[in-house]
Amino acid sequence: MQTFNTINDIQNWCRDQKRQGKSIGLVPTMGYLHAGHLALAAEARSRCDIVVVSIFVNPIQFGVGEDFEDYPRDLRRDSNLLEQAGVDALFAPSVREMYPVGYGSYVEVTGEITEKLSRPGHFRGVTTVVSKLFNICLPDLAFFGQKDAQQAMVIEKMVKELNFPLQIIRVPIIREADGLAMSSRNVYLNPDQRSQALVLNQSLQKAREAIMAGERDTDRVRNLLQATIGTSPEANVDYAEIYDATTLADVKEIDGSVLIALAVRFGTTRLIDNLIVEVQ
Ligand code: PAJ
Repeated sequence: MQTFNTINDIQNWCRDQKRQGKSIGLVPTMGYLHAGHLALAAEARSRCDIVVVSIFVNPIQFGVGEDFEDYPRDLRRDSNLLEQAGVDALFAPSVREMYPVGYGSYVEVTGEITEKLSRPGHFRGVTTVVSKLFNICLPDLAFFGQKDAQQAMVIEKMVKELNFPLQIIRVPIIREADGLAMSSRNVYLNPDQRSQALVLNQSLQKAREAIMAGERDTDRVRNLLQATIGTSPEANVDYAEIYDATTLADVKEIDGSVLIALAVRFGTTRLIDNLIVEVQ
């Protein structure tokens, strides 16, 4: 695996690969890799000639008081994992390389998809860095996790509306054996919070069971989510919502494909999880 730290070097390398007729798969990450990230890399490996993984903790997608400084980092470990996963190139730029002094260009997606659920300003930071990564790494396919369902939707909208010549592939959520969705932020949880965090997946499963048993009223499903999460003393619900899975429009009556989306805080750690339920 080759490691690149400058935009020039990786962009030249990717251009060269494309000239040789090779397809490029890009997996953007913020590092501290786990099996969820590696599932994206494996999917890219199975579909593309060349797999590029980026590791960049993107300061502009963190809000004031969020965990940019404390975000877990371990580039050496990540690099070994990617090598073992058969990745061809790692792009790990510095903040200054991506945002030189005086930097001032941003990409913003507007509409219901970004207004729902989000942390203010967060998606502008995500769409800006992902656009830069697309222009730098020239992927044919780019891989994103269903874990961040709204992020994947926002990026799909951006790719469509700004005519990026590439396709987004969504990869299902990878979970720990006990059901907790894998996340780089899980390391912040103390043992007690770690066991309480199981209520996220448990509440999603309960909501799914209720819908499968015939429940169609979103208020009642929302109450069920809240009540289940409420059994965990440290859990603080940021949101527990049910939306149309393709548009994020509000739904009163559950019909078709709905996204049940959660964000819950345990102390200062904010965890997200979601589930798509289809009803005929
Ligand atoms: P990060 O949180 O590192 O996630 C990188 C990619 O891994 C995202 O597409 C995310 O959805 C996916 N992922 C994370 N946990 C997963 C899990 N348990 N199962 C499946 N996929 C999972 O998301 C970001 O970084 C950033 O916002 C980024 C897109 C890199 C832009 O900075």
